[in-house]
Formats: sequence, structure tokens, C-alpha cells
Amino acid sequence: MAYKDEYRASIDSPEAFWADKAKQLDWYKPSKNILSTDEHGIQHWFADGELNTCHLALDFHVENGRADQTALIYDSPVTSQQQKFTYIELRDAVSQCAGMLRQCGVSKGDRVILYLPMIPEAVISMLACARIGAVHSVVFGGFAAPELAQRLDDATPVVVLTASCGIEINRIIDYKQIVDAAFDIATHKPSVCVVLQRPQLTVPMAEGRDIDWEHALESAESVDCVPVRGSDPLYILYTSGTTGKPKGVVRENGGHAVAMKYSMTSIYAVEPGDVYWAASDVGWVVGHSYIVYGPLIHGCTTVLYEGKPVMTPDAGAFWRVISQHRVKALFTAPTAFRAIRKEDPEGQLTRKYDLSCLTTLFAAGERLDPPTYEWLKETFGVPVLDHWWQTETGWAIAANMYGLEKMPVKSGSSTMPVPGFNIEILDESGTQLDNNQQGFIALKLPLPPSCLTTIWGDVDRFKHQYLETYPGYFTTGDGGYFDDDGYLFIMGRVDDVINVAGHRLSTGEMEEVVGRHPMVAECAVIGRHDQLKGQLPVGFVVLKNTEDVAPDQIIEQVIALVREDIGAVAAFKEAFVVARLPKTRSGKILRKTLRAMVDGENYVIPSTIEDPTALDEIKALF
Ligand code: COA
Ligand code: AMP
Repeated sequence: MAYKDEYRASIDSPEAFWADKAKQLDWYKPSKNILSTDEHGIQHWFADGELNTCHLALDFHVENGRADQTALIYDSPVTSQQQKFTYIELRDAVSQCAGMLRQCGVSKGDRVILYLPMIPEAVISMLACARIGAVHSVVFGGFAAPELAQRLDDATPVVVLTASCGIEINRIIDYKQIVDAAFDIATHKPSVCVVLQRPQLTVPMAEGRDIDWEHALESAESVDCVPVRGSDPLYILYTSGTTGKPKGVVRENGGHAVAMKYSMTSIYAVEPGDVYWAASDVGWVVGHSYIVYGPLIHGCTTVLYEGKPVMTPDAGAFWRVISQHRVKALFTAPTAFRAIRKEDPEGQLTRKYDLSCLTTLFAAGERLDPPTYEWLKETFGVPVLDHWWQTETGWAIAANMYGLEKMPVKSGSSTMPVPGFNIEILDESGTQLDNNQQGFIALKLPLPPSCLTTIWGDVDRFKHQYLETYPGYFTTGDGGYFDDDGYLFIMGRVDDVINVAGHRLSTGEMEEVVGRHPMVAECAVIGRHDQLKGQLPVGFVVLKNTEDVAPDQIIEQVIALVREDIGAVAAFKEAFVVARLPKTRSGKILRKTLRAMVDGENYVIPSTIEDPTALDEIKALF
């Protein structure tokens, strides 16, 4: 079996396996020390190699016969605009943007924060950073100013790149106002902010700090790629943990490029020249890996879509894009498919388009639920492949390795471990569990290339969070089991992270925000099952005193606080005032019981419960 042999080789001889895969890339200096260990005991792939990720994604293709092939298709139903860039055009735009960054004082190793909507400048500036060895950190537009400020303080960028606005269906979101507010809050205030004025909104510029993007580009000179070491960081991407402080996942150039290239053939089964579309956002890891780096490193045409699955203008939007641009493989979150199915349950709109180009559908970001899977399979008649991954890994941990071997699909499973990922299911004490037993999913070290090697500026947090629970393993934070055929079933997070419309959010962080309201004595936020978005946060709030207060008003205020502090993306719209929270006698909130209760599942009331009436009150609400 092709998959089994490949997988075995990756586990038995990881260095030989990845050294071989690395040969597919055009290194300036190939790595000799394939897997090395640093002074903190952390392993790095290809640390001593030299390369440039932008060279691999653009210049290499320009020099090797793809100069006139389309590299990027920008498709924006919200602005009724489309634009295509060939590889040479994209290379030129990127090298000029890199020149602009240089003019703004950005050098190798410096950080640049990007707060941009889904426009070509987002892709161009990510690649421009890579070109000069700068480290980008893209912040998703749905995050509010305090979130952006936290990232400014943590990443300490030299420059911020932004645009005047994002467009949410037909609403103009003033991005610049959010950036200005973040500058006010942050302690670290970069001296330069480059602003792209979009035609939909012109914003005022802060004198002495803000620079007009178009203007700055005019005087910028093109710059060449700068060689970086394999272990030099390509980007920092912040993701939610269990506390209010997001974790800056650090991705290194060498391992990332190797994993991207390998995944395009082995998982996505696409060839250079094919059109590949990840309908995600550049603010998320899927956008980094499969809108920008993976398809371009592989020589594909990638699609950048500024729109929604529905309402831009209808539930046929995805099918229009597939048919018009001849997309071969589509990758998106199940929630997007659920949104489409809700509007068009019979799949009528698919019939309006010629979808014969589409060969595979990929889903990730949350579990592909069996009803959505069945609907997709029936509607499209192409393989529908779920795969499991995380910001931390940057690519799939378990997948149907379709480019290696077409494995039968089991609904509800993300299939088998991707080569390089040695997955084990452990119990609380770290003992390996048998098939069909659900436990904590851990990855035996070494991790394969592309996985994070630290949390930006906090190696101790990285070790504590991921490596110390089970020595010799990386803790994923997900729970699940293997069946007797070796198929992996992901059953959800085992921590306080929730997944809302494919977006990863921290209920701990929401609790911190709600708890800041002067009238709130204590609170709990949990994820509640939602038909469309997978999960939605719901809050339970105990007030300091109940005299002379209108509970509805407090609820409105805490909802507004979460929106102001975390952002619209948190989708925190439901909260209740309760007399007390269900807790154990030692004071631990019974979150698991709460979750089961609000989802209408069976639950056992723990014998350690302090006051059972607290549960009755909540039960009555659902
Ligand atoms: N900039 C500013 N605001 C944004 C934003 C952005 N880039 N993205 C989302 N928001 C806002 C939305 O406008 C919405 O605000 P509202 O509460 O005022 O309506 C809020 O954040 C929640 O957005 P979203 O989760 O996208 O919900 P939705 O109801 O607008 O759309 C779906 C629902 C399912 C259509 C949408 O979530 C979707 O397409 N999901 C795909 C997920 C995805 O790509 N995940 C990436 C991993 S693969
Ligand atoms: P993110 O880091 O935002 O990509 O979110 C990662 C989390 O999303 C994982 O830890 C899982 O909980 C969840 N997830 C991603 N893909 C899948 C999948 N295919 N099946 C189940 N859960 C998934």
C-alpha cells in the first residue's frame, strides 16, 4: 500500500524521509543537518539550509517556464471586481512592495503586522515580507482594536500595513479606525503605518505616521530575495489559547516550504498549473498555507475570494467561482457548506454552472459532520475529504492522502495520520489507549516539518503548553480515537477553545472580558452546539448585587464588551443572568456538565457538586 509504506518510512527514518522531500525545492544551500536540537531542547528542521520562501513561490516559477501562467486570481463579488496576476506580474508587484517595506525601515528579522481584507495587497505584502526575510503577522479583520493592540505589543512590529476598509457583504468596516484605536491602546507604537485607500472608503491619515500605500509604492525600488536560514521565522500567527493572551505561533521557512510542497501532491493531488482554491481568509492558518504559500510554491493558480459562501449574491457564489476559474480542488470549512445547504438544500444552484473541472472537495477547521458530508457527496459526486489540522502544525495532521492512495472515506473521520505525524491516543496518565477508546490526542516527537517551534517570545510557555503534559509528546488539545481500521475520529477540544464558524476562539478570554464588567461577580462562557456555525458561545453571569439593576441591560453590556474587546468574530450574542454557577465543592465550575446540559446530551451530576439547584436553574433556560 502506497500510503502505509510512505507513512512507515516517515516514522522509521524521519530525517531520510524529509531530506528526500526537501530535494523538490530550489534551496540556495541545502541543509546538511536535517533535524537539529537547539539550546532549549527544541527540534528544528533544515536549520542550516538557506532558502527564500518568496523565491520558491514566485521567482523560481518565473525562471522555470511559468512566467505567463496565472498565479493569482482575485475575485471580489463585494466590489464587483476581478483581477489576474501572472507569475511574473505577481513577482514584480511583490518585489516592489518589498522595496516599499525597505523604505519604511524594515530589515531581515523585523516584524510587520498586516491588518488587511481579502485583497491582492494582502498576498503581495505577505510575500514581500518573505522576500526580505521579514516576519509577517497577519491579523484577521474580524478582531477588534484591543486584540490588534495585544499583537502589536507582543510582536513589536516596525510597520503596520492596513487598508481603509473591509467589506462584509454590503457593510463597509472602517479598518483604519480600528488600527488607530489599537495604536492608542498599545504600548508599542510602530512609527509607520502604510494605508491603502480603497475606493469604497477614504480615511484620514495620521500626520507623521501614516503613509499612503500607492504613493509609497511609486518611489519604491524592486528588491531581490534575501537568503534566510531554514530555521528563520517566516511568520507569526496568533491563535486562541485557554487564556486571554493569544499565542504567537512561529512558523519557520525551511520546514514550512517542504511541508507545503509535499502536501500539494500527496494530500490535495494537484499538479503545477492546476487551479486551487482555499475559500478561507488570509487571517487564518488555512489562508496562509493554502491561499498563499502551498499553491504558489507548487506552481498552481490560487484564488483569493473576497466574499461569502452566501449572500454575495447567493448560495451559488462558490459554484460560480469554481466554474468561472476552472477550479480543480476546493478547500473550505464545513460551516460554509452548511450555510450554502441551508439556503439551497436541493443544490439547485449547482445546476446553473459547469462544475466538471472540480475533482475534489476538502474540508477542515472543524469536524465535517455526517449530514453535510452526505449532502456534498450526493450533490457533487466527487470525493469529499475531511482533514484535521491546527494553526500549530500549519498543515494536516490526519487526512485521506489522496495523492498517494485513494483511501475509502468513513463519514465522521479525518482518515489516517499524515506521514510524519506519529499520533497516539493517551489517557490522563499518558498511557496509550486501545482502539475505539477515546482520549487525548498526542503527537510523538519529533513533529514533522512546518509545526511551530516556539511561541513568539515565550519558549517557556511553548514548552509548558505543548510539551510538558506528556514528556516526549506534543499535546494537541483535541480528543478522539482510532477505530479498528486505523481511522482517526476527532471528537473536539479538551480545553476551553471553541470553534465558531471554523474560527478558533477562547471561552477563557471571553470570560476575562465579561468578568471585567463592574457588576459581574463571576461568569462562565461555554460553547453551545449550533446547526450552522458548529458552536456558538453562551455566557452565564452572576451579578454582584441584584438590587436596582436591570439584568437585560447588563447582558446587553457584556455582549457589547466582548464585541468591543475581542471583535465581531467572537459571535458572542447569548448570555443569561443566573443566581449561581454550578460548581464542585472545591470551587471548580462544572463546564463539562454545563456543555452537555445546554446541548441536550446525557450528563451525570457529579457527587462533588456544591449546590445541585444551580443546575436546575440553567436547565430551565434550555
Ligand atoms: N472583517 C470584519 N468583520 C468580519 C470579518 C472580517 N474579515 N469576518 C467576519 N466579520 C464579522 C461578520 O461581519 C459578523 O459580524 P456581525 O456579528 O456584525 O454580523 C461576525 O464577524 C461573525 O462573522 P462570521 O463568523 O463570518 O459569520 P457570518 O454570519 O457573517 O457568516 C458563514 C457565516 C458561515 C457564512 C461564515 O462564517 C463563513 O463563510 N465561514 C467560513 C469560515 C472560514 O473560512 N474559516 C476559515 C478556516 S477554513
Ligand atoms: P485552528 O488552529 O484555527 O485551525 O483550529 C484548530 C482546531 O480546529 C483543532 O484543534 C480542532 O479542534 C478543530 N479542527 C480543525 N480541523 C478539524 C477536523 N477536520 N475535524 C475536527 N476538528 C477539526
